[in-house]
Amino acid sequence: GFHAVVPAGGAGTRLWPLSRAARPKFLLDLTGSGRTLVQATWDRLVPLAGESGVVVVTGTQHAVAVARQLPGLGEADLVVEPAPRNSAAAIGVVAAVLAARDPDAVLGSFAADHVIGDVDSFHAAVAEAVAAAREGWLVTIGMQPTGPSTGFGYVSPGEALAVPGAPSLHRVVRFVEKPDAATAERYVAEGWRWNAGMFVVRAAVLLDLLAEHAPELAEGLRRIGEAWDTPQRETVLDATWPGLPSLPIDTAVAEPAADAGRVAVVPGSFRWDDVGDWTSLGDLLGPAGDGAGVPLGDPGEGLRVLGDPGRVVCKDATGVVVPSGGRLVVLSGVDDVVVVDTLDAVLVTTRERAQEVKDVVDILKREG
Ligand code: GDD
Ligand code: MG
Repeated sequence: GFHAVVPAGGAGTRLWPLSRAARPKFLLDLTGSGRTLVQATWDRLVPLAGESGVVVVTGTQHAVAVARQLPGLGEADLVVEPAPRNSAAAIGVVAAVLAARDPDAVLGSFAADHVIGDVDSFHAAVAEAVAAAREGWLVTIGMQPTGPSTGFGYVSPGEALAVPGAPSLHRVVRFVEKPDAATAERYVAEGWRWNAGMFVVRAAVLLDLLAEHAPELAEGLRRIGEAWDTPQRETVLDATWPGLPSLPIDTAVAEPAADAGRVAVVPGSFRWDDVGDWTSLGDLLGPAGDGAGVPLGDPGEGLRVLGDPGRVVCKDATGVVVPSGGRLVVLSGVDDVVVVDTLDAVLVTTRERAQEVKDVVDILKREG
């Protein structure tokens, strides 16, 4: 069968102060849809894998919130990692468990904190990826870049592959994780695609690739996988997990597997956003006047409000406003600002420099 794995970790520091270590962005309803990002991810995956086919992997500090937000998630399908060991371990541990139970199991990993539109088109792309994974490929979904972002992995599509059920499948010639700006620019010009951060693969194939390219991690995961369905699970997990190498799946597996000719890509044509910072969130929210964000005053076209629009008064201003601190937020005569008001912190920056919030959070952490 097909199993969906949702690794839900990471800090989400670029959406500070709404997103915090204790409240990462996957636990937030960033789009005003009434569902948090991890709930929306669940909603998208259940039609593909069934309620009992979705596994979430998260840290101890978020397990309770995840369980509360996903009442359909069985206790056995919530994997709580003793400490963060990056995405290769989070996805790999589920692969090890699944492969021990069923050598033909196919898994797809899907980030917990992306926003996806056109769900039918997303489902169709994943169905193609599953067909290709059954044939042994490590399959990524490749998005059309909208610019030379340095925050993504890039795949260069090669020749079309003839796999039944996967008409748009292409070989991946190279996979490069987070290139520098100049390289990214060249890749976009050459027609490379963004890796959407989704991997579909037979669990046993992923373990083989890990054994080849990250043997120490593979060995630890194998021990955990074998103990999983036995009374030794906790003992082996606690003894093995802390020593696992902390590696992103992109560099540990996808890059070398592409060099070995084992990666394929299905182009995605659905709306996709990894909500990397306040600017991309602002772009995601509809224009003011459209739906949730209707501020008082004269917002013009360019003001986006996340939350209660009745708490924003705006005169000749554009930007992104999050009035979640309970106070009234007034903008007057400023353009392209980002204002995030929360109970214990206020952020004021510009759309252009919203990426730098991450550096600010690093400074705050250093200074306690
Ligand atoms: N459980 C768990 N534990 N999950 C983790 C951990 C961990 O220690 N580390 C990362 N994850 C999860 C994140 O929550 C996310 O769902 C996924 O693994 C990817 O990690 P990110 O940290 O968000 O990676 P990224 O955004 O820098 O890059 C990845 O996604 C891009 C698309 O958004 C890569 O796959 C890129 O190639 C890709 O373009
Ligand atoms: Mg990410």
